[in-house]
Amino acid sequence: MSIRQLLALSFLFLAFAVPLGGHAETIALIGTGDVSAAFGPRYAALGHRVIYGSRSPDRDVVKAMVEAAGGDASAALPHEAAAQADIVMLNVPWEVAEDVIKGLGDLSGKIIIDPVNPRVIADDGYRDYPGTASNAERIQNLAPGAFVVKAFNTISMDTMLDPHVNGHPVTIPLVGNDATAKRKVAGLVEALGYEVVDVGPVRFAHIVEGLYLLRSNTRDRNGVHYEYHFRLRETATPQTVR
Ligand SMILES: NC(=O)c1ccc[n+]([C@@H]2O[C@H](COP(=O)([O-])OP(=O)(O)OC[C@H]3O[C@@H](n4cnc5c(N)ncnc54)[C@H](OP(=O)(O)O)[C@@H]3O)[C@@H](O)[C@H]2O)c1
Repeated sequence: MSIRQLLALSFLFLAFAVPLGGHAETIALIGTGDVSAAFGPRYAALGHRVIYGSRSPDRDVVKAMVEAAGGDASAALPHEAAAQADIVMLNVPWEVAEDVIKGLGDLSGKIIIDPVNPRVIADDGYRDYPGTASNAERIQNLAPGAFVVKAFNTISMDTMLDPHVNGHPVTIPLVGNDATAKRKVAGLVEALGYEVVDVGPVRFAHIVEGLYLLRSNTRDRNGVHYEYHFRLRETATPQTVR
């Protein structure tokens, strides 16, 4: 598919995204690290019910996260949080992502948002992709009845906390096999203040996961901080796809 076709599809996709302030979801945030701490209060502020899934939900740090999210936020063991949720966001290190998914019980019918970045750090300091299938594909294979949507893995913590910190729009590439699930996640992403672009089914997750490596290697090696903004080209001449 050409870039032009991809962008045209993405804007069609945007037009049908769930409206801001639509249906309130119950969202389980699995893991209580930085990503869950960033998204919990933001989802709660949109009116969604937030449940943190933690191996030790009674810790003070988890209680503080529940307090920070406000509203009817709560914490529970990961499988208890997932059981109550419509949407499960997998905010755990890539090395344990498969084991964590296996411990969450039956995820059939639920959306799994996957922000996980698989990566190894070579001796020369460059981050690289582990020689395995993408995280999103592995998760989808482990939970075939669930709807995995890769999202948010390409952005920095600053941009997770505030999409406007960059002074320009930020694009969140999405992949997933189910169009309805992707539309729902697109609505959530847009309500949080980002743009979306649909990059295709979950088999293209390796491309989106690779975008993280591009961003982190330029940051670590060249000292420059990029966020992705896919700018629409207004006038385009027909091109041969190579
Ligand atoms: N941080 C970023 O800026 C950023 C940006 C883009 C994408 N991501 C991706 O988002 C995911 C989450 O990132 P994060 O920074 O929030 O991760 P993190 O700080 O490392 O936190 C991960 C959480 O996972 C839970 N967990 C469950 N099983 C675990 C195990 N066996 N070992 C260690 N922790 C376990 C822990 O919560 P409990 O102890 O409560 O169970 C822990 O707090 C990662 O895959 C990362 O690649 C991160």
